[in-house]
Amino acid sequence: MSKIRIALVGVGNCASALIQGIEYYRECERQEECFGLRHLFLGGFHPRDIQVVAAFDIDNRKVGKDISEAIFAQPNNAPKVADTPSSNVFVHKGPVLDGVGEYTKNVIHVSDLPEANVATVLKESDAEIVINLLPSGAVKASEWYTEQALIAGSSFVNVTPNFIASDDSWAKRFETIGLPVAGDDLIDQVGSTTLHKTLLKLLSMNGVRIMQTYQLDVGGGSESLDTLERTKDLKRTVKTKSVESALPYKAEVVAGSTDYVDFLQNRRDSYFWIRGEHFCNIPMQIDLKLSTVDAPNAGSVLFDVIRAMKIALDKGISGSVMPLCAYAFKHPPQQTSIESAEKMFADFIS
Ligand SMILES: NC(=O)c1ccc[n+]([C@@H]2O[C@H](COP(=O)([O-])OP(=O)(O)OC[C@H]3O[C@@H](n4cnc5c(N)ncnc54)[C@H](O)[C@@H]3O)[C@@H](O)[C@H]2O)c1
Repeated sequence: MSKIRIALVGVGNCASALIQGIEYYRECERQEECFGLRHLFLGGFHPRDIQVVAAFDIDNRKVGKDISEAIFAQPNNAPKVADTPSSNVFVHKGPVLDGVGEYTKNVIHVSDLPEANVATVLKESDAEIVINLLPSGAVKASEWYTEQALIAGSSFVNVTPNFIASDDSWAKRFETIGLPVAGDDLIDQVGSTTLHKTLLKLLSMNGVRIMQTYQLDVGGGSESLDTLERTKDLKRTVKTKSVESALPYKAEVVAGSTDYVDFLQNRRDSYFWIRGEHFCNIPMQIDLKLSTVDAPNAGSVLFDVIRAMKIALDKGISGSVMPLCAYAFKHPPQQTSIESAEKMFADFIS
């Protein structure tokens, strides 16, 4: 099988989980023997077929380092689960733009090394897919890297909650040059949004009328700190829309990240509250807490996204890849039910 050549924009916790995951599952041959993955093989590709060929960051503890080392540098705090061999891929310095917010200015130490020419690095490394793993508050930087992918002729995956794949004008630009784009805001493997939607779906299928529900999160990664300052409202909008789509009627729904607790490290605690009525309007209530580790929660879905993007590239698909956006992202170009997203994706990869 040929390799899938990817470039990472942002060598933070998600990048760490992705690169460690490739090593963790490298020797695994049988789906039934390797837990934690939705698909060991997808489109014939194994996770070990994913190859990082370029990476960009701005932090002086990461820039200039081999990617295998940079992923363990502070302030990253994703757990170490695998040894990562030297890759000979060194982290390039990208432009800072709005990558650092007021709350993260003491957390990210900006390197004073010269900036790379990002489009040229992408072209020279022959990166087929650029994965945007910037902080959610880095709106301008996300757009700037999208532009670089377009210049270099690479496809683009937007893991952040900024609107790229779901924005008509960006999607059209990728369509015009014949390249696929996917996003926005990755759905976690066992994330609060998926759990919340599944619970609401189950209750409404059983005839329960949901009146009100909320979902609140606390996390300890630098992304949670950035969210607190810059993207709380954006995340609340994206998550609320996604959760609302699980109900066939209107209810009062609030879903969104709320706070940063440093000692949680890369852990995330999510609290759910649901109020409804079942038979003869008798009231019922659910109070629930989910504890996960943030970055590894993105790993399995990222593996699927990368391999499905390769399928899209091989099929010559351009613009937003709807089956992929609906399956793996909270804010696709159009919201769909979990069932139709699953069906679209299964048809797409078969
Ligand atoms: N489970 C998950 O972790 C998950 C799920 C859905 C979406 N996301 C999104 O993925 C993104 C990454 O999350 P994370 O936890 O890895 O974040 P992180 O804060 O750990 O990593 C972000 C990295 O980007 C770097 N950076 C900042 N500005 C830059 C610039 N201008 N150029 C290059 N690099 C720059 C930072 O130095 C840091 O290394 C976030 O937008 C988050 O919302 C994550």
